[in-house]
Amino acid sequence: MIEINLLNAPSKLGTTAWLITGEKLPDKSALGLDKHEYEILVKQRDLKRNICCIFSKEKVQHFVFLTLVKEGYKNFEAARKAGASLSFEIKKSGLSELTLTTNNGDSSILLSFAEGLSLAQYSFQKYKKEKDGGSIKKLFLSHSKLNKLEVQHLNTIVEATWISRDLVNEPVIFLTAEKLAEAARDLGKKSGFETEILNKAKIKALKMGGILGVNAGSKLPPTFSTLTYKPKGAKNIKPIILVGKGVVYDTGGLSLKPTPNSMDSMKSDMAGAAAVIGTLYALSKNKLPLFVIGLIPATDNRPGEDAITPGDVITIHDGTTIEVLNTDAEGRLILADALSYAKKFDPELVIDLATLTGSAVRAIGTLASALMGTATKSVKEELIESGYETYERLIEFPLWDEYGDQIKSDIADLKNVGGANAGAITAGKFLQHFTTYPWIHLDIAGPSFLNSQDSYRPKNGTGVGVRLLYNFLSKRVKNK
Ligand code: BES
Ligand code: ZN
Ligand code: ZN
Repeated sequence: MIEINLLNAPSKLGTTAWLITGEKLPDKSALGLDKHEYEILVKQRDLKRNICCIFSKEKVQHFVFLTLVKEGYKNFEAARKAGASLSFEIKKSGLSELTLTTNNGDSSILLSFAEGLSLAQYSFQKYKKEKDGGSIKKLFLSHSKLNKLEVQHLNTIVEATWISRDLVNEPVIFLTAEKLAEAARDLGKKSGFETEILNKAKIKALKMGGILGVNAGSKLPPTFSTLTYKPKGAKNIKPIILVGKGVVYDTGGLSLKPTPNSMDSMKSDMAGAAAVIGTLYALSKNKLPLFVIGLIPATDNRPGEDAITPGDVITIHDGTTIEVLNTDAEGRLILADALSYAKKFDPELVIDLATLTGSAVRAIGTLASALMGTATKSVKEELIESGYETYERLIEFPLWDEYGDQIKSDIADLKNVGGANAGAITAGKFLQHFTTYPWIHLDIAGPSFLNSQDSYRPKNGTGVGVRLLYNFLSKRVKNK
């Protein structure tokens, strides 16, 4: 992990990177350059180079130019991307410590620059003999308006995103449902939330037929974890609940996914759970005064000999019967148990995150998650705003009554698949059936796992959801 610190003493530390915004360059003494070096810098900027390195006083100085636009949130994203470009430039040099500063009066632009740079340093190294990840170990931020706490908070958010990415990238041979629950418990001990892990017997006793049904074809037991963060002085009395789909591997079950390709990335089908764990880690480590509970139903989905078959009928925790016509539509079955279980906490708001449908990916690709739900217009707007601020963008899909007709069953209360069209929405309608409280569903199937790198979003697990939810929840603290 990278350690990000506030620099209050003048830098004795070699390498510095300047984020330069606007037309006017700081003067050469402020940049620590001599006349000749300064001329090189001016020339590079005039040639519209984005990054320029100058070897000055036996060290490399980096300069990154950024053109600002009217919309503030776009500038923050541009600063993150500028940080990522610098990160890749530096990777080759093996540099371990770096000081970041800017000529911009707004310290949040420097925070975004540092955020992009740190997020881009990530790579999943666990199974590599020859490690070749990012080399930066310490970042120092220098800005007159920054305080220590803000920098620490950023550090935690980056760390939580890395944690979430690690969980997604971890293959199922290691990360079983039990291991996922243990990972949550260990992270809770480090940061300050409690984890209760229900085993298969307890899941049976609670009649969570969705989890048991999906798990039936597996040799490994399911888990149901409750992560509780209830700080003294919390601003809310009723909890905010985050539910994460924890399918540690999705083969499709007997409705087997076709290979090659469509199954290849399905170790990532617990990205919702990873986002919930990462968010709780960040909230508790940063001591945000909010009462938040995470619920994680977890299992793999396999076609073993006891697997549920297309046409089977199972019963969810609340007594609803489901005709399972496609065992690959398993996420909604385990989420149904969790959404029903959530009622007992009398929540203020429930947000579920799930890699739920290929339909969402086809509709909006990897640039956004689909938002649906019954929460108020203002909650939706706040979330969508957080989406722009973090660039984990959201777009609302409708949950009109008529879509619900597609999941009516002839022989049970519901069936688990709709028609050929609007699959992300019919999945949302299915989940809605189990909610009695203000509720938001985020289908993160697209942005949770990338087949190619996109700036500071790496190839494979992206950790999407952590920065989004943290932003949304921390704004709720301020508004209370
Ligand atoms: N985990 C998949 C959804 C998915 C697809 C996530 C691609 C990420 C990338 C989910 O369990 C699934 O298989 N959904 C089916 C539902 C269908 C059978 C109704 C789908 O979307 O094809
Ligand atoms: Zn599936
Ligand atoms: Zn799935």
